[in-house]
Amino acid sequence: MAQFLISTLALQRNARLLRELADSCGARMLVALKAFGSPSVLPLLRPYAAGCCASGLCEARLGARHLGGHVAVYSPAYREEELAELLNFAHHIDFNSLPQWQRYREQVLAHPRTRSGALRAGLRVNPCYSTGHTPLYDPCIPGSRLGVPAEQLRDPALLDGLSGLHLHTLCEQGAEDLIATFRAFEQDWGALLAAPSMRYLNLGGGHWITKPGYNLRALAELVRDIRQRYRVEVYLEPGEAWFIHTGVLRARVLDIFESLGYRHAIVDTSAAAHMPDVLEMPYRPELYLARPAERTHAQDASAAPTYPAVQLPGIHYEQGAEVGQKAHSYRIGAVTCLAGDVMGDYSFNTELRVGDELVFDDMTHYTLVKTTHFNGVPHPDIALLQADGCINTTRCFGYEDFESRLG
Ligand SMILES: Cc1ncc(COP(=O)(O)O)c(C=O)c1O
Repeated sequence: MAQFLISTLALQRNARLLRELADSCGARMLVALKAFGSPSVLPLLRPYAAGCCASGLCEARLGARHLGGHVAVYSPAYREEELAELLNFAHHIDFNSLPQWQRYREQVLAHPRTRSGALRAGLRVNPCYSTGHTPLYDPCIPGSRLGVPAEQLRDPALLDGLSGLHLHTLCEQGAEDLIATFRAFEQDWGALLAAPSMRYLNLGGGHWITKPGYNLRALAELVRDIRQRYRVEVYLEPGEAWFIHTGVLRARVLDIFESLGYRHAIVDTSAAAHMPDVLEMPYRPELYLARPAERTHAQDASAAPTYPAVQLPGIHYEQGAEVGQKAHSYRIGAVTCLAGDVMGDYSFNTELRVGDELVFDDMTHYTLVKTTHFNGVPHPDIALLQADGCINTTRCFGYEDFESRLG
């Protein structure tokens, strides 16, 4: 059975770095639950995170229950009953459009939690400044529905009652792109941010803070500069940065055969059902062949310790290379009927065998939150690798899970 395996030690390594960064500049560091939100893991992040960023009521409830702290919510639109419930426990509610803000303004401002200062309302703005490389993940593309562009800022009275601004434009990017984006944002929105009623600026997610080489100092300087000049609290809400290189998806080879010029290996998982970003983004995941270590296979002690993100003792991991670079090439495909459900083409020094374990690297973020039971492919178990080396399976899935969600 396939398995998502997440390392608690790797999680803590990321979390410590994010906490240190936040402490160094006074940023409030939230966990974007859209990236990952397993209730068995969130409590581990409590000592490090200021709270969560939620995409709506469900994620907000999840964060309040399992992570605690600050609950910041942003959704492209709120349903009436959703907003009514959020008013009771969220701390920031950010609106995506001026009509949504006008629709709920009175209700928000009249709420006792707003009057006491426990709840604040903000507006997501669109700086219309693209620095990303993938249109699917770029909220500044022409025709974007995400955030209010400055050209709509004609009547300042429409903004009465707002005490925060929110922008999210990045995806897997460095501090330099954030700084450039902030400068563009500042030209249009700086005067509003400087208003005495403004209490916070949320700089969204997409910051690759825990990736080696990220310019931590530049980010910290930007946050300090904003806090000092505008006298607002600065929030960051990365998702991926908390979970990058913390987990893998372990799969088994079910069949190997030749067809139409390729050697195919079918595995007991699916990109479409279990790691859809592979097809949506798209990207080629790092893949490892995992076999019990023989003496000739002694682990290379100089290898980067984060590849694969989770390594088990006594196992030799051979990294899959581009096709043709190693002796045996395979097209690694899913156990679904979708023709394009292929993870990629890889080569290995050794021939694959039915029953071999293949490890897809870096599969914690934007995987579990997006999985489906498409084709009835068994959902991988979810397991945690504890600091003492024990593997603790927190969730198994069966036929009932497949059936129950079909209504
Ligand atoms: C509004 C908002 N905040 C935060 C994030 C988290 O982004 P990331 O996981 O890239 O850091 C996203 C991702 O789409 C988002 O849309």
